[in-house]
Amino acid sequence: MKVEPAARIDGHIGVPGDKSVSHRALLIGALSEGETRVTHWGRSGDTESTLGVVRALGARVEEEDVDTLVVHGVGLRGLRPPGEALDCGNAGTLARLLSGILAFQEGRFVLTGDESLARRPMGRVVVPLAEMGATLDATDGGLPLEIEGSPLTGIDYTLPVASAQVKSAILLAGLGAVGRTTVREPAPTRDHTELMLEAAGALVTRAPGSVSVEPVSALHLPEVLVPGDISSAAPFLAAAALLPGSTLTVHDVGLNPLRTGILGVLERMGARVGIQNRRRIAGELIGDVEITGGELVATTIEASEVPRLVDELPLVALLATMAHGTTRVSGAEELRAKESDRIEAVTTALRAIGGHIESRPDGFVVRGVPTRPRGGSIDAAGDHRVAMLGAVAGVVSRDGVRLEGAECAAISFPGFYELLAGVARSGDIG
Ligand code: S3P
Repeated sequence: MKVEPAARIDGHIGVPGDKSVSHRALLIGALSEGETRVTHWGRSGDTESTLGVVRALGARVEEEDVDTLVVHGVGLRGLRPPGEALDCGNAGTLARLLSGILAFQEGRFVLTGDESLARRPMGRVVVPLAEMGATLDATDGGLPLEIEGSPLTGIDYTLPVASAQVKSAILLAGLGAVGRTTVREPAPTRDHTELMLEAAGALVTRAPGSVSVEPVSALHLPEVLVPGDISSAAPFLAAAALLPGSTLTVHDVGLNPLRTGILGVLERMGARVGIQNRRRIAGELIGDVEITGGELVATTIEASEVPRLVDELPLVALLATMAHGTTRVSGAEELRAKESDRIEAVTTALRAIGGHIESRPDGFVVRGVPTRPRGGSIDAAGDHRVAMLGAVAGVVSRDGVRLEGAECAAISFPGFYELLAGVARSGDIG
């Protein structure tokens, strides 16, 4: 695919429902009693993997339309082995959260995934779940993973890495354990699991740096309204920020404070960001984000900020490429354990279009040049976030970007390229 340069970005858009919340709505809905009606569900490659797995485990899910689902819960301990492996596809969130849930179900389960997911670390969930009493066997620390449902006991666990996926796996296992389960985190990570479990009637206690859950006998989650995915809004916000004269509004975006790091970084770098219609729906903050593009300046990102924008760091590298000064991102070694080694994939991609970026073991350093990068060829490396980065790079470049493997954007955002083309305005590219 060739992505042509645009003069500016203009318009009003909406983005699909948040991927993190969409996975959790199906999984927690399946564990609940009665129906869970999920609206603005974010349909994507990843969330369809969760839909397939939840059905394979015995929960009926009706699809009223493309983004409205009704999950018929089977109860806290009602999931059953399907007699074949559960295919998690490319979805790390699914593999991790599901491990916590299956640890206390009856029977023996096998989790598999695609080549990228099979390479990603599962030891980070296997270790704490085994400490709770779970019976797990991970192949070389990854997938396939075998889980045999066992009686669990609550633990007090300090996460070695800040990971919402691992935190969530332990909290979900804690629902079916004896006694309280506490997770301590080195930096605050997204709390969608906590919010949804509270909405479903679980007793969740938060303290600075830790969260605890008590065992439950039953969950009830009648409704989930999924906010727009800020990680899917981010490529559009970045493109608008980079092209002076742009004004873009993304409506009904999730503004959970543990996800909005990218908005703070955009403001720090000099973009004008406004939020209208701020409201709270079922525990989650939501609003319309308006951005105006202009000249950008470099910034610094350290470990404590990383979890709030972990999936947006590839875009930060692109913003930095066109900002005045040198941007440093550190404490982000987790990027090496994502759908690709995102530190290397982003460095390769931005160098290919003329960016001055160097990788570090835990991040990157970018020397910005405040003009359009030349353009060139970018390989998505099978990683949806790198594919979207490549497309935005094409829009803000001088000559455009030839994007290899563009189709993997559908892992989180089917329709991404069409939406981008819809707000990209042609004209003098300066
Ligand atoms: C996610 C958490 C993050 C994020 C991923 C989704 C989640 O991963 O990168 O895209 O839904 O909990 P980690 O928590 O492992 O960093």
